[in-house]
Amino acid sequence: MLRVGYPDTLAPELFGDFPPEVELVPLPDAPGPEIEIDVWLPDPYPPTALRVWPRLRGVRLVLSLMAGTEWIPGTVGPHVTICNARGAHNISTAEWTVSAILAMLKHFPFYMEVQRDEIWKRRFETSANYARITGDNRPLYPPVLLEELTGKTVLLAGHGAIGQEIERMLEPFHVNLIRVAHSARTEPAVHAVSELDSLLPRAGVVILILPLTEETRGLIGRKQFELMPQGALVVNAARGPIVDTDALVEALNSGHIRAAVDVTDPEPLPEGHPLWSCPNLLLTPHIAGSSPQFAPRAVKTAGEELRRYMNGEPLHNVVQTAI
Ligand SMILES: NC(=O)c1ccc[n+]([C@@H]2O[C@H](COP(=O)([O-])OP(=O)(O)OC[C@H]3O[C@@H](n4cnc5c(N)ncnc54)[C@H](OP(=O)(O)O)[C@@H]3O)[C@@H](O)[C@H]2O)c1
Repeated sequence: MLRVGYPDTLAPELFGDFPPEVELVPLPDAPGPEIEIDVWLPDPYPPTALRVWPRLRGVRLVLSLMAGTEWIPGTVGPHVTICNARGAHNISTAEWTVSAILAMLKHFPFYMEVQRDEIWKRRFETSANYARITGDNRPLYPPVLLEELTGKTVLLAGHGAIGQEIERMLEPFHVNLIRVAHSARTEPAVHAVSELDSLLPRAGVVILILPLTEETRGLIGRKQFELMPQGALVVNAARGPIVDTDALVEALNSGHIRAAVDVTDPEPLPEGHPLWSCPNLLLTPHIAGSSPQFAPRAVKTAGEELRRYMNGEPLHNVVQTAI
């Protein structure tokens, strides 16, 4: 019988749809004897999973509950097949992305300060900040107290499962969408990442939703920030190291861009790090994919992949094939 290890923090009833022929083995995050399993569902929180891994024996297949799996190949080695939970985060992460864009364009982080200070008049500071960040120094009346997403040019870097969901959610805003992915294609038109630099000067909003690989590490650095128009909004829902942190801090502090990031480099972001206090930044602590619907969806995705594995069918979400 195939033995499937799962984090014991997940409720057993989530596995109701798993093939009945498997034996489910709860894996505690605590020291103990070696555990023999064939299939591993690692804890979604990598530090916990990394503590459990050294005790596991016999793992041939890893079914990650997350979309991002960058820490797994280096941990389990090349003789294990790894699948991700492609799709499980689509809705939550796409909703975070659209919310973050709207929050920044509506200046919600600033209005939270106004609310806490109980000073209605402070709202006029938005107008001054709008002029500063966009470089629009015309005498504007009435003052600009928020901005519109509708009609903006949005560059979407990453057009996979989550990128396509973001596109669907952006439809009502009639944005001018520029899609970028690893390779170019048509219908819909997607540019290759090699064209990124030439596209950045047109982008009012830049969304990053692609995996962290050796190719994407530092994809957005000093040069890319400089290529963006004054006041561009950079939204990183992907992984922190895709953006060069020093360059991000510099670009924010100079007032050239603004940003909304769910992910940082390093992560967790330590107390006192300069990023915490940058202007025009909305920072959330890696929560974009996390909703009450996540665990049932991710476990269902893993169960479907497991069924294919047991039936000898091609797997759908392979990120590494065992050698
Ligand atoms: N913040 C969070 O909580 C959170 C939650 C979920 C996921 N994520 C992150 O989001 C990432 C994307 O998730 P997904 O499910 O949409 O992945 P996916 O379906 O695998 O799509 C990845 C997309 O990135 C593109 N890509 C890959 N390498 C690239 C490169 N070198 N340059 C440019 N584009 C490249 C791919 O291009 P092609 O289409 O040409 O192959 C594809 O369009 C995950 O890897 C994860 O790190 C974060």
